[in-house]
Amino acid sequence: MTGASGDRVPIGAQSVDAPLSRSAVFLTLAIGPDDDDLAAVRDVLGDLDGLLKTVGFRDLGAHLSCVVGFGATAWDRFSPFARPAELHPFRPVSGAVHHAPSTGGDLLLHIRGERTDVCFEFERLLLAALGEHVRVVDEVAGFRYFDTRDLLGFVDGTANPVAQDLAASALVGDDDPQWSGGSYVVVQKYLHDLDAWAALGTDEQERIIGRSKSDNVERDSATEARPSHKTLATIVDDAGVEHDVLRDNMPFGRPGSGEYGTYFIGYSGQLWVLERMLDRMFIGDPPGTHDRLLDFSRAVTGATFFAPSRDRLLGLADLARAPSDPSAPPEPSPPTPPDAPDPGLGIGSLRRT
Ligand code: HEM
Repeated sequence: MTGASGDRVPIGAQSVDAPLSRSAVFLTLAIGPDDDDLAAVRDVLGDLDGLLKTVGFRDLGAHLSCVVGFGATAWDRFSPFARPAELHPFRPVSGAVHHAPSTGGDLLLHIRGERTDVCFEFERLLLAALGEHVRVVDEVAGFRYFDTRDLLGFVDGTANPVAQDLAASALVGDDDPQWSGGSYVVVQKYLHDLDAWAALGTDEQERIIGRSKSDNVERDSATEARPSHKTLATIVDDAGVEHDVLRDNMPFGRPGSGEYGTYFIGYSGQLWVLERMLDRMFIGDPPGTHDRLLDFSRAVTGATFFAPSRDRLLGLADLARAPSDPSAPPEPSPPTPPDAPDPGLGIGSLRRT
């Protein structure tokens, strides 16, 4: 959400629905083991909105945004409240041929913007503020490739939900009221074998993806001899309801090092939907019909996070403040029961505006 005056203000923290951007940074961090590491991270995240304004205000048209997600272990350290219903560490998936590893991480920062320099500057200041209290586990700078194509040459993101469907798919709903408005986030870094992919020819590539390459038109899944990526990633429950997720994948690469990749990021109100997609891709449905996209794309990371809504971050501002903060109340407020209206993560100085 861009705020009451639209483009006139930087996009606030936790804007899962920020527009797909030209540039993005995916930063996975591990938090140091000590209480003061946690307190320092709390303080920095508490001023995420301030940092977004500091950098984003220099070019409002760059639409700088940042979503922070917490891994399951980090959640337990940060929050006096029980985990969101489905939050757990990334479950590795092993099919007969391909494997999706779990590589972990305490925090995910998904930084988006229309300008590479704006994303860079935000990341630079953020890491400077976090200092030695965090360790960078993984850092990927992604870029938009022509008309939002991946490096395999296909338009990526077409089937994303839009308008009111976006919130319904990407955000937790009333079934977990304490954390409604938040989002489960799954990330994976994939490396492509572009030479082998190019050797296939366009027709075979289109069969694998399930769409035509040049004009992005869907192929008829009923005529597929083997399920395409599009078909395997389509989740329909027993009641016939289709479940979408929000994807904001980005290409990345270093041609000089032969590195060509796709950074997958999926947001969902229901983690099981993303997990079912991964099972179907890596194991196949029926088993043995794995996603042939994986024959040319190797998953080298995998991690799951929960991004609470901005309100939830704000709501806990008065809880569990750093003991070293002289202005903090002497004792943190007692944990709120599960049906309390306004929990959060006890993060530093974030305040409602
Ligand atoms: C669709 C690329 C990984 C979920 C697509 C499409 C492309 C694509 C080109 C068709 C256009 C579109 O609707 O966006 C890739 C690449 C990946 C990757 C290059 C990594 C190498 C994944 C993963 C998931 C996923 C790991 C889920 C866990 C989906 C979904 C769709 C889709 C839900 C839409 C299916 C539909 O038509 O309803 N992907 N994808 N993708 N992908 Fe992926």
